[in-house]
Amino acid sequence: MSSDPLPYREFYYPLNVFMHILTHEEGGVSALHYGLFASPDEGIAAAQERSTAMLLERLPPPPARLLEAGIGLGTTLELLTRIGYDVTGITPDAQQIAMVNERYGDAVRVRCAKFEEFDEGATYDAIVFQESSQYIASEALFARAKALAPLVVVLDEFSLKPIDTPGALHALSEFLEAADRHGFEVTEEVDLSAQAAPSIDYFTQRFPRYRNALIADLGLTSQQVDELIAGGVVYSGRYADGTYGYRLLRLERRT
Ligand SMILES: C[S@@+](CC[C@H](N)C(=O)[O-])C[C@H]1O[C@@H](n2cnc3c(N)ncnc32)[C@H](O)[C@@H]1O
Repeated sequence: MSSDPLPYREFYYPLNVFMHILTHEEGGVSALHYGLFASPDEGIAAAQERSTAMLLERLPPPPARLLEAGIGLGTTLELLTRIGYDVTGITPDAQQIAMVNERYGDAVRVRCAKFEEFDEGATYDAIVFQESSQYIASEALFARAKALAPLVVVLDEFSLKPIDTPGALHALSEFLEAADRHGFEVTEEVDLSAQAAPSIDYFTQRFPRYRNALIADLGLTSQQVDELIAGGVVYSGRYADGTYGYRLLRLERRT
């Protein structure tokens, strides 16, 4: 156990906010990805586990060699390792690496690196992006992926309609064009938008209740809390009108 009662305090904003709320609501945080809800009243932990289960179903069987890009807190990495995969996990965030080391020690193999720059001279049977592809330019992602593995599995959210807003999600069309340019074809696409959207509401409903805790414990300003609430409403609206959506994508390199 960490001696720091808030080991995620210095995690980048707003990740620290999500972790604070999950810690208080759920008694801990195991994942930084959306839940995929079977029903709106399902618990978020069960919904998050569904995401990982869907990912696992798309992978070659163990002991395949995997690269997990963007490991977050390392929960999926530890699971993949435990069930027999030969897996390396990467994240460019040293604080996440420290937390994963503290949680799992030598039981998992981690490297502090950006995917688009990662090169250990190894190749893999598959690369997994569980809500990390959105942080990597699509062109750079597939340029690197084609040298590393014949299979890419992605769970992530995208812009489905044109949106001219700074910081908007990657356009799915551009992501798929980049994949195609680098020799990958989509062999499966599952629209999970409706199942993912309740994750946004989970937090938006709770921000007002956690206003004081977020200010006192994480040093947010009241204005930042207002912005989180307003931002959540806008985000939710983008899912509702189809501007944003969530996809599972399986992409195979053409031979
Ligand atoms: C939303 S979190 C998801 C974490 C984890 N996959 C999960 O599902 O809980 C995004 C992850 O992507 C990582 N990330 C951001 N930029 C990256 C990059 N250029 N290369 C690899 N990982 C990156 C972040 O550090 C973080 O671990």
